[in-house]
Amino acid sequence: MLSVENVNLHYGAAQALRNVSIEAPMGKITCVLGRNGVGKSSLLRAITGQHPVSAGAIAFNGVPLSGMAPYRRAREGVGYVPQGREIFPLLSVKENLETGYAPVKRADRSIPEDVFNLFPVLRTMLGRRGGDLSGGQQQQLAIGRALVTRPRILVLDEPTEGIQPSIIKDIGRAIRYLRDSTGMAILLVEQYLDFCRELADHVYIMDRGAVVHQGPPETLDTVEARRHLTV
Ligand SMILES: Nc1ncnc2c1ncn2[C@@H]1O[C@H](COP(=O)(O)OP(=O)(O)OP(=O)(O)O)[C@@H](O)[C@H]1O
Ligand SMILES: [Mg+2]
Repeated sequence: MLSVENVNLHYGAAQALRNVSIEAPMGKITCVLGRNGVGKSSLLRAITGQHPVSAGAIAFNGVPLSGMAPYRRAREGVGYVPQGREIFPLLSVKENLETGYAPVKRADRSIPEDVFNLFPVLRTMLGRRGGDLSGGQQQQLAIGRALVTRPRILVLDEPTEGIQPSIIKDIGRAIRYLRDSTGMAILLVEQYLDFCRELADHVYIMDRGAVVHQGPPETLDTVEARRHLTV
């Protein structure tokens, strides 16, 4: 499992994470919910190594990640689907997928069949430029690119943001399939409550840089939980 223990993170003098502790077990979908600006992406930056932590410890299956460069975390099995997708607009779909080869051993440098089984549209668009895809197709491509790195934990930052409902359904189905068929850990950051409620095995709510609630998804309907989620 992934374990995050008492992590602080600062941008200059501003503190974005306060003593954050979460766990994401293998074979489970762990969801982190919270309004705009509460520190969800900062938490994922701490996990993937995009931004240094100022205190605390992060480990994946017993391997300490703190201080490790992002590419080395990718080699340890941390797959990242960033907020806003970050597709390379001028590269083709195939080339975007192949950027996922970087942390992978030469023998494993192929695009897993699962990518095309989960998102058949990507196969039909292999030669198209990433920038010509719709937002939903780009999100599927970003997930596909992360799967090419052969992750053992998939970390997704608001994959439903600005995506049409039919593709949100496909993405939900894909996330569930990955949990059940591969046993990987899934850490999903969201603002879309219903999406989390349907998928999550365990939920955390963040507010102002701190974890303020955790429990099974049914506990999202308590007054206390709702107070942290409504604007
Ligand atoms: N690079 C940065 N430099 C300075 N402050 C930042 C930086 N990135 C984020 N912040 C601030 O840190 C806080 C947490 O931001 P973060 O992006 O983690 O929130 P979030 O929960 O992901 O929000 P959203 O739902 O809008 O994506 C916010 O107050 C934000 O303004
Ligand atoms: Mg964010």
